[in-house]
Amino acid sequence: MKSYNIALMGGDGTGPEVLREGVKVLDAAASKHGLKLNYTDYDFGGERYMRTGETLSQSNIDELAKQDAIFLGAIGHPDVKPGILEVGILLKLRFALDQYINLRPVKLYPNVETPLKDKGPEHIDFVVIRENSGGIYTGMGGAMMVGTQNEIATQVMCYSRPVVERCIRYAYDLTRKRNRKKTLTLVHKCNVLTHAGDLWVRTHKEVGDADYKDIKQDYNHVDACTMWMVKSPEFYDVIVTENLFGDIITDLGAMIQGGMGIAAGGNINPNGVSMFEPIGGSAPKYTGKNVINPMAAICAVAMMLDTLGEDKAAASIDKAVYDALASGKIKSMSAGKMGMGTKEVGDLVASLV
Ligand code: IPM
Ligand code: MN
Repeated sequence: MKSYNIALMGGDGTGPEVLREGVKVLDAAASKHGLKLNYTDYDFGGERYMRTGETLSQSNIDELAKQDAIFLGAIGHPDVKPGILEVGILLKLRFALDQYINLRPVKLYPNVETPLKDKGPEHIDFVVIRENSGGIYTGMGGAMMVGTQNEIATQVMCYSRPVVERCIRYAYDLTRKRNRKKTLTLVHKCNVLTHAGDLWVRTHKEVGDADYKDIKQDYNHVDACTMWMVKSPEFYDVIVTENLFGDIITDLGAMIQGGMGIAAGGNINPNGVSMFEPIGGSAPKYTGKNVINPMAAICAVAMMLDTLGEDKAAASIDKAVYDALASGKIKSMSAGKMGMGTKEVGDLVASLV
């Protein structure tokens, strides 16, 4: 029997609640497909930080690095200054484990409401690959004369050819594997970012011309991309983009697929330990009320299984999510409006795996 070690990091707010439902569905898929999953719980997050002053130590990272995958609920606590937990836990893990791909599918399921008029599941089904290890997120830059009238601050969009190329190659491979429109759209702002943008544009073209002649190359400026995502999302198959642009457009992506309740993300190191999360945040006001939507967490575990190479188990969760939503029993993707509780949504999907 194949066995995997999974780190569970419930985190803050509603994180542990949605994580529990994700685990429920994961267990259902594991028992159906003959997988053994060994879980280890970790309590990283706001409560622990307030108790101990610790976010994530090197020895914590070393331990997590021995797992096969990490499942994260949410990070973010109303009593902790913004930035401490995000940088100290989430970004730290992404960097330390070199999870250089942030995979964010944008898929509208049946019966899920989108704010886009006249668009349905046949129009909204693409994937955003957000580069997850470079750019402005590296923190390069500095400040001087802070607090004076002449304060100066820089934050550098830093990319090397290897970091761009490994991301672009992953994106081409995924476009080929999806086998849909076979189109990889690079999103950047090369008309203004003439250095950083040009590196991405040339890498996209050179790698595509050399090794992916079967894949069509496309390019959008990021501002135009936000327009097309709303006007004609059906244009897209796979989008690849740098870190900050990817952060921004995937929130837009989450909205057009029905909201944060159903948006999942994978922080992937294709040769290492990856981490999967619902991207919606900790939603503290809903904590403990059994009203938060666990669908995003459930979609995240499907991505986890897929990344571990368990495509059949992943597909059975995808299908269960599809069937649960197609049944019409879940009334809305919004917290408190689902017509059933967090646990009941988990039960429903688990029963359909
Ligand atoms: C995300 C989040 C994070 C990011 C924050 C919380 C650091 O917005 O995962 O998209 O900017 O990457
Ligand atoms: Mn974000």
